[in-house]
Amino acid sequence: MLKNLNETVEWLKARIPAETKIGIILGTGLGDLANNIKDKKEISYEEIPHFPVSTVEGHSGKLIVGTLGGKPILAMQGRFHYYEGYCMQDVTYPIRVMQFLGISHLFVSNAAGGMNRSLEVGDIMLIEDHINLFPEHPLRGRNLPEFGVRFPDMSEPYDKKLRKLAIEIAHKNNIKLQYGVYVGTQGPTFETPAEYTYFHIIGGDAVGMSTVPEVIVARHAGIKVLAFSIITDLGVTGRVETVSHEEVLKAAKIAQPKMAFIMEEVIKQL
Ligand code: HPA
Repeated sequence: MLKNLNETVEWLKARIPAETKIGIILGTGLGDLANNIKDKKEISYEEIPHFPVSTVEGHSGKLIVGTLGGKPILAMQGRFHYYEGYCMQDVTYPIRVMQFLGISHLFVSNAAGGMNRSLEVGDIMLIEDHINLFPEHPLRGRNLPEFGVRFPDMSEPYDKKLRKLAIEIAHKNNIKLQYGVYVGTQGPTFETPAEYTYFHIIGGDAVGMSTVPEVIVARHAGIKVLAFSIITDLGVTGRVETVSHEEVLKAAKIAQPKMAFIMEEVIKQL
């Protein structure tokens, strides 16, 4: 893995400005943020040595290099989901690449089902914490000291200062921002009514099929994280309706300009 990683990183170093410290993962239906990136250069995942290739609809699978909010950034349009069949090492491979490229801040977005009664479709939820319900841990196995410590601290998975900044920006610009705990599950089924209720009872406000593995690896790597869920459907007890991927994409599209604005402003003020 280390040999592959070094080859990926060496290949990318020749194509990415050395000052790039900000990484972004654009979630399902949230790729439009890429339109705000200036001086863009796109690198398709297929071109990158040892990089996994994404398959799901709504993910085009490319790295976008450029500037956002005046800062050099590296954005992933399309991520690798566990439900697609990738192992956890592949799901989190791009985060290791970011670590070795010297990325210090990671911005993550996803689409999620809202379980807290105060959430509505189209809301943006700032992720304050998460519950890892994936059946496999991304750090399982031998720990390489180059990656991080054996038993990483998880007391602040989502950076407090970044969250404060995001809240201030949303408030100043009259953008409704919700807060809550994200439950990460393997999918690919959406939840049954009883599962939504269960995830809410154990402390979750929204549920989705991504983010948690990437955030765990980012924290292992010492990368600071800020993450947002776009609430695309509701799993509120007694109000569960049918969910489709199309509806998720539609709701994500409506909310994404507001999330993109917050992200860009946070990056500007870093
Ligand atoms: N459950 C799981 N993942 C999701 C959902 C959901 O309701 N909505 C969008 N991604």
